[in-house]
Amino acid sequence: MKVTASAPGKAILFGEHAVVYGKPAIAMAVNRRAIVTIQEGTNDQINVQIPELDVYGAIDLTDHQIKPLKTSPSQTKFSDTSSTSDNPASPSSIYDMGILKFIRNAIFNDQFQPDHGLDVQVELEIPIGAGLGSSAAITVATLAASASYHQEDLTLEKLAKMAHHVELDVQGAASPLDTTISTHGGFIYFTRKDGAVKINPALEMPLVVGYTSQPGNTGQLVAGVRKLHDDHPEIINPILDTIEKIANQARQAITNGDQQKVAELMNINQGLLDALGVNTNQLSNLVYQARSAGAIGSKLTGAGGGGSIIAYCPGKTQEVLERLKHVENAFQVNISPQGVTWE
Ligand code: PMV
Repeated sequence: MKVTASAPGKAILFGEHAVVYGKPAIAMAVNRRAIVTIQEGTNDQINVQIPELDVYGAIDLTDHQIKPLKTSPSQTKFSDTSSTSDNPASPSSIYDMGILKFIRNAIFNDQFQPDHGLDVQVELEIPIGAGLGSSAAITVATLAASASYHQEDLTLEKLAKMAHHVELDVQGAASPLDTTISTHGGFIYFTRKDGAVKINPALEMPLVVGYTSQPGNTGQLVAGVRKLHDDHPEIINPILDTIEKIANQARQAITNGDQQKVAELMNINQGLLDALGVNTNQLSNLVYQARSAGAIGSKLTGAGGGGSIIAYCPGKTQEVLERLKHVENAFQVNISPQGVTWE
């Protein structure tokens, strides 16, 4: 038996970091996916292959220990084609190898587990450590493929919950934003208190992602913002309140189809993320290069400190793409209405 599942990555448009303080965030699933194929194994281990990252590992069926089989960090840059063969790469082998833990915990979950060896093949269209939800996409797709292989019926709600638990176990701290979007797809308005609410955009959302070769460490960046907040509460709290207003106005602008307002709010959000200390020279350079090439809105996306920017550039996508490719890595993404799929 051979089963395949896939799940999309995501881009946060508004509200990262503030969401940790109970404020809303807006994010969308993107048309770059993790594709996981599971079949009966050639031996009595779980053999995992992620060719795009040159990551190969064997997971013991009994004690679930991971044995790296071979690593040679690839230098390949992401291309803007949607073909997976010439696609992938990653900046760091620590991130690369860490991916195996998400796969291990998704396969040995507390609902169903294999009692024989499996071969697990992962194709990756999303750079890892770039704030684009690669670990959530891999986790969601692995869980879905595994459920399908074991002929388990999982609701999307249950799958999203299990995926979030995997992220919590592996990462220590994670908001359910990434796993929720990867499971359900589309556009989401998210708060910690009320969870995810789907929103219906009345505009096209072609984005260019500019991707620095430096991964951001989400835990460290969240801790940095916490320190700034604790040292200067009377300054930082109003910034977080303003980001909340931005996300709420952006939700309206997205559902009203007001491109200009969405773009302006992205630019203001970028300034406030800079004030929170999560911007970098490289990210700033990408943000301003994108604007000078025709983007009407651009900002870092995700935790910052490295990772990616998104540029909103209706009618100017090619120009912005070409410019950012000259500076760093860049590719185009669109909204993915489709969340996880499996057969
Ligand atoms: O970079 P990412 O995709 O891990 O996004 C982090 C978003 C934060 O708001 C900074 C943290 C969080 O858990 O929401």
